[in-house]
Amino acid sequence: MSEDVRSLLSAGDGGTSLGAFSQIEDGGFAEAEATIDGDAESLILHRDGDSVRAWLNICPHAGRRLDWAPGQFLKNREGHLVCAVHGATFELSGGVCVAGPCRGESLRPVAVVVREGKVFLDLPP
Ligand code: FES
Repeated sequence: MSEDVRSLLSAGDGGTSLGAFSQIEDGGFAEAEATIDGDAESLILHRDGDSVRAWLNICPHAGRRLDWAPGQFLKNREGHLVCAVHGATFELSGGVCVAGPCRGESLRPVAVVVREGKVFLDLPP
């Protein structure tokens, strides 16, 4: 998690469940809401086998949500996440834009952990 995002997470958010792990298809996406620094934020959750990655659902191009409807994300043939607004394309290991209007910029990561079948924000103690 980048320091800027980590600093946004307030201590009171520890233990916030973002939903059931089993509801995310392997290789697929889900959207979750979390309170970050007192504000409701939308998150992109991406399942990769037994783990889940998360980013703020904010495109670095124009600051819009990436899903075309809540929780409905586009994935191209190469397995990249595609922003529904102007087509910025992100690889899913690090959330870096590999094609489109914000090439080289990154989604802002949010640390999450899978515990007891649920996805939680993974906050420092
Ligand atoms: S807002 Fe995502 S590509 Fe423009």
